[in-house]
Amino acid sequence: MPLFEIDYEDYKPVGRTGEKISAVGLGTWAIRDYKVAHKSFVKAVELGINHFDTAEMYGAGEAEKFLAGVIKEVGRDRVFITTKLYPYRFRSRDEALRAARASLNRLGVDSVDLILIHWPDSQVSIEEQIRNLEVLAEEGLTRYIGVSNFGLEELKRALQATRKHEIVVNQVKYSVLDRRVERDLLPFMIKEGVTLMAYSPLERGQVFHVKLLQKIGKRYAKTPAQVALNFLISRPRVVAIPKAEKEEHVVEIARVMGWRLSPEDIELIESRL
Ligand SMILES: NC(=O)c1ccc[n+]([C@@H]2O[C@H](COP(=O)([O-])OP(=O)(O)OC[C@H]3O[C@@H](n4cnc5c(N)ncnc54)[C@H](OP(=O)(O)O)[C@@H]3O)[C@@H](O)[C@H]2O)c1
Repeated sequence: MPLFEIDYEDYKPVGRTGEKISAVGLGTWAIRDYKVAHKSFVKAVELGINHFDTAEMYGAGEAEKFLAGVIKEVGRDRVFITTKLYPYRFRSRDEALRAARASLNRLGVDSVDLILIHWPDSQVSIEEQIRNLEVLAEEGLTRYIGVSNFGLEELKRALQATRKHEIVVNQVKYSVLDRRVERDLLPFMIKEGVTLMAYSPLERGQVFHVKLLQKIGKRYAKTPAQVALNFLISRPRVVAIPKAEKEEHVVEIARVMGWRLSPEDIELIESRL
C-alpha cells in the first residue's frame, strides 16, 4: 500500500473553501523570456491549467507584470492567482496593505485569489504576521490567505492565530527527491484540510536524470518529469507548481493530469528514492 491514499482528482480543493484548482499550476520564478512564456501560459489555460504562482520578489516585480498580460488575454475569471509578499511586510498592517496594493497594481487586478507570507519572519511573532495578513482579506485585496515555507510548528501557530479567515495553503518544497514533508507536515495538512502547494517539484531539472523515473515512465509512455509530478498529485491535498516557459514543457505538464501511477509504482518510488 502507498503511504497515502491515492487522490485521483485533477481539480483539487483549495483548503476548505469548496473551490478547486488544477492539480498542476505554473510557477513564474526566473523566467528568461517573457514573450515565450506569455504564449506558453495562455496555452496552459487552454489545456486546463488554471492557477499561476508568483511573488513580488520574482524578477523584482517583473513576473507579476508578466502575469498581468496573461490574465488580460485569458480573462480574470479563468485563472486563480497566488502571489507572495516578503515576510517583513507583515510587521505592520500599513506595510502589508501598501505591498499588497503594489502587487495588485503590477498584476492589473482589483484582487488576487491568494496572498502568502513568502517565509516566516524572525522579527515579529507568527500571531502578529497572521493578523496583518488577515487585514488583506478583510480589505478585499485577496479572497484567501496562506503561508509558505512554514514548518509544522509554525503552521500550527498560524492556524491557531487566525480570527476570521482560514489559512488555505502552505507552499513548501516537495519533490520525489525531497520528501521531508511526508513525515509530519503533509499528514497534518491532510487532517486540517490545508492544501500543500509543492514548489521546485522538478528539482530544477534533476528529476529528469533519475533512472527509476525513466524506467517507470516507459510503462505509461510518459517522461520522467510527468512521472515525478504525477507522484506528487497522487497525494491528497497536494498540487504542484512546476515552472515552465517553453511551450512543449507546458504541454507535457498539462498531460500530468488525467491518469495516475499504479499503487505499485508509487510504492516503488517511495521505497527506492
Ligand atoms: N515559496 C517559495 O519559497 C518558492 C521557492 C522556489 C520556487 N517557488 C515556486 O515554484 C515554482 C517552481 O519551482 P522552480 O522554479 O524552483 O523549479 P522546477 O519547477 O523544479 O523546475 C523548473 C525547470 O524545469 C524545466 N521544465 C519544466 N517542465 C519541463 C519538462 N516537461 N521537461 C523538461 N524540463 C522542464 C523548466 O524549463 P523551462 O522554463 O525552460 O520551460 C525549468 O528550467 C517557481 O517558479 C515558483 O513559482 C516557490
